[in-house]
Amino acid sequence: MKVLNEIDTVAFAPGNEAVRIIDQTLLPGEVKVIDVADREELYDAIKKLRVRGAPAIGVFAAMALSVLSRSIEEKDKKEFLEKLQAEADFLNSSRPTAVNLSWALKEMMSCARTQGSEDVPAIVEKLYDRAVKIRDDEETIEKKIGEFGAPLIKENFGVLTHCNAGRLACLKYGTATAPMYIAHEKGINFRAYCDETRPLLQGARLTALELSASGIDTTLNCDNMSASLMRAGKIDIVFVGADRIAANYDTANKIGTSLLALAAKHYNIPFFVCAPTSTIDKSIKTGADIPIEEREPGEVTEMWYEKRMAPNDIKVYNPAFDVTDHSLITGIITENGIHYLKG
Ligand code: MRU
Repeated sequence: MKVLNEIDTVAFAPGNEAVRIIDQTLLPGEVKVIDVADREELYDAIKKLRVRGAPAIGVFAAMALSVLSRSIEEKDKKEFLEKLQAEADFLNSSRPTAVNLSWALKEMMSCARTQGSEDVPAIVEKLYDRAVKIRDDEETIEKKIGEFGAPLIKENFGVLTHCNAGRLACLKYGTATAPMYIAHEKGINFRAYCDETRPLLQGARLTALELSASGIDTTLNCDNMSASLMRAGKIDIVFVGADRIAANYDTANKIGTSLLALAAKHYNIPFFVCAPTSTIDKSIKTGADIPIEEREPGEVTEMWYEKRMAPNDIKVYNPAFDVTDHSLITGIITENGIHYLKG
């Protein structure tokens, strides 16, 4: 599966009139690259998790808006900007929790609005340049997160992660996986453990795939086995990603993250959140105000099973994310360094 790690998670297709992604719903069985250009398909790619993970969603949205800007027919600047804003609002409504989505779209809109006397074709080209810059910056940021986090991984450590905050959720190093990739490049031997991550199995399908394809010693465990691994002394540090970090550092990430943080606290295991500063939403005071996406019941009752595994009329609770209280977090690793929240 080496080939997977050589394909860009998100890129412009040749000609820049479509966004090229790996369809992540098909992994690990099939590595299929698709070009998405139609507005409904761009929206659906985010909604249906063909592209997923907070940073990748942000980069994808910037590129998607650039692609859509090319098909807006209005040549009057005011009318063009109104149409562009409507497309940005549409894309932004696809998923609520990852702030990188709205962040990237706001960056694109502010780029479009501050083009002075330039005409519409010039704005369209500036939007393309801005999307490329958002993409390039993201890659640099991921490497810096890795460089700050890697020294925390010592020889023979067991490193646990949840969901997929790796290359497939980002661009190259990922966020939670960045310290692992850099430590691996430096020749540090460690064991990576991936939570399976019910119900959509991002840990099993994606993280286990990309880490093992990179030559890292990788073990997959069900979500309910993490505390047992900790008790057995097999986990020395936990790294997770984030979809939105509130001003007080309460952190929304994939459902199950907060259980992991609670167990890590009990077993006195350092618990780090890795994220670009664009994931920090200072407008939100605490985790209580972070919007949490609720998804289809079928993801819990039947997806992945040969036949339905729950009573027909059962009520289902299926939030895609939870909030980890800042008091459970040892530190936040961003492109600017490690911000310790507790000793
Ligand atoms: O629903 P998903 O797969 O988009 O959720 C992804 C996560 O929760 C990741 O941990 C988070 O986006 C950080 S990705 C660097």
